[in-house]
Amino acid sequence: MAASVGTGLRYKDKVTIVTGGSKGIGKGCVEVFVKNGSNVVFCCRGESEGKQVEQELNAVGPGEAYFVPCDVSKEDDIKNLIDKTVEKYGRIDCLINNAGSHPPHHTIDEFSGDDFRSLLNLNLVSYFLAAKYALPYLRKTEGNIINDSSLVGQIGQTGAVTYVATKGGISAMTRALAVDEAKYNVRVNSFSPGNVWTPMWENGANSEKDPQGCIKAGADAQLLGRFGTVEECGQACLFLAAEGTFCTGIDLNLSGGAELNYGFKNMRERTGIFQ
Ligand SMILES: NC(=O)c1ccc[n+]([C@@H]2O[C@H](COP(=O)([O-])OP(=O)(O)OC[C@H]3O[C@@H](n4cnc5c(N)ncnc54)[C@H](OP(=O)(O)O)[C@@H]3O)[C@@H](O)[C@H]2O)c1
Repeated sequence: MAASVGTGLRYKDKVTIVTGGSKGIGKGCVEVFVKNGSNVVFCCRGESEGKQVEQELNAVGPGEAYFVPCDVSKEDDIKNLIDKTVEKYGRIDCLINNAGSHPPHHTIDEFSGDDFRSLLNLNLVSYFLAAKYALPYLRKTEGNIINDSSLVGQIGQTGAVTYVATKGGISAMTRALAVDEAKYNVRVNSFSPGNVWTPMWENGANSEKDPQGCIKAGADAQLLGRFGTVEECGQACLFLAAEGTFCTGIDLNLSGGAELNYGFKNMRERTGIFQ
């Protein structure tokens, strides 16, 4: 039974950590959880942006947003994020690993080993470390972990061999951790967004030769003919945290059906966006 049934607030008084919460999907999660009564500790590198989001959300409530600066590529920063959460709220119910990056599109010829190692550290090792340091507390509350993966971890993506590998690793790690942590009644799930309209997507489009064509192609990649929203991502995470109490080890696609049906996929004749 969900914890907050009857109050209208679906995660009231629970403590949630969101990495990368100042923008995009992470901000969508922070906002939805605060609106549903959770105390949400979130991080990013940009201190002024983090403080601004904290103020913006605390003006609305009814939960609380608390910003802690943290670069998730640094293990000590992650430890500090967990410590600050426990100092302030005394418990952790949910960890949402979200902070990550998508490098510009290249083939393997242009990526170096160091490029790959550094992206693995940011996108995958950081999720491992946040889970490692949060789990002693999550085991006490029988809480849950939600890892932001990506649809491309399942279906691949042009010019993104390093990114796709990190995302496939996140979904696989999620399943392995779900197996190990079930004995503590800790659930571990991931979600896999397709194209969600965020600053990351917008910046990526603006670096292409034809930004408008790129954005149109991004919307047309879904059966539903549009981008997903950050609020939809937050709502899906809230479902996994609050009501999905029989879900563990799943990878929830938030993809607008992008992975379905035949499309024009002939890479030998393909021209245009992201060739
Ligand atoms: N947008 C999509 O279509 C899409 C699709 C599939 C998966 N995803 C995944 O969703 C996640 C978020 O993507 P997004 O599109 O929302 O990105 P975004 O708009 O660029 O937002 C990223 C957030 O993460 C923070 N961040 C970045 N690097 C960080 C670091 N080293 N340490 C701490 N915080 C950091 C950013 O703040 P600072 O820069 O200030 O640190 C910002 O708050 C990523 O894991 C991405 O792979 C996105």
